[in-house]
Amino acid sequence: PSAPRINPSVLSADFVNMQRDLARIATADFAHVDVMDNHFVPNLTFGPQMVERMQATSPIPLDVHLMITDPDHWAPGYAELGAASVTFHLEAAAEPVALARRLRSIGARAGVAIKPGTAGESLYEILDEFDQVLVMTVEPGFGGQSFMPETMPKLRALVDEARRRGSSTWFQVDGGLSDATISQAAEAGADTFVAGSAVYGADDIEAAVTRLRERARA
Ligand code: DX5
Ligand code: ZN
Repeated sequence: PSAPRINPSVLSADFVNMQRDLARIATADFAHVDVMDNHFVPNLTFGPQMVERMQATSPIPLDVHLMITDPDHWAPGYAELGAASVTFHLEAAAEPVALARRLRSIGARAGVAIKPGTAGESLYEILDEFDQVLVMTVEPGFGGQSFMPETMPKLRALVDEARRRGSSTWFQVDGGLSDATISQAAEAGADTFVAGSAVYGADDIEAAVTRLRERARA
């Protein structure tokens, strides 16, 4: 398999030093951008105006994770501003397949996310509509929570189903990933790893990215 992707989450960056903190993750694969609306999740971050500035200043492509209500309406705007990937929550989307097709038509990778309590089976028939599937490994809303190992059988089943179907969809995990937990997700088949506090909380950010990549490979 290809090298694991490490996507640091700027939720753990210093929001008033975002340009500096994006520059600090230049050796990572994608900058993971958590958009929260204080409605789908009980926390608020930023919207399209801020993400447009991040797109202009980031040394690496943006991986936008929308934790918002009505992604059918809002998600295409993030693709239009140039985000490399736009992931919306299955629980929030009225027409997930139509939305994924729209994101792809704009030129973004289309992603779908599921919360820990959401079953994976509803995605089996539509896996090919997505470039990436995000299995949340914490309840979405906050950084710094503990990894939920009980989400791993669902991830494994989705990965196996995708392989059976010959699909090349990426499988992403997000929440509580650290040097101690990342190998569990890698063993369950994840290839793309979001980490907020484990990266931005480290003394040496570049070394933290390299170490996570090594542990995800092992
Ligand atoms: C949680 C966000 C995550 C968060 C992960 O709702 O989607 O991207 O930043 O943070 P850590 O790695 O600290 O759990
Ligand atoms: Zn996220």
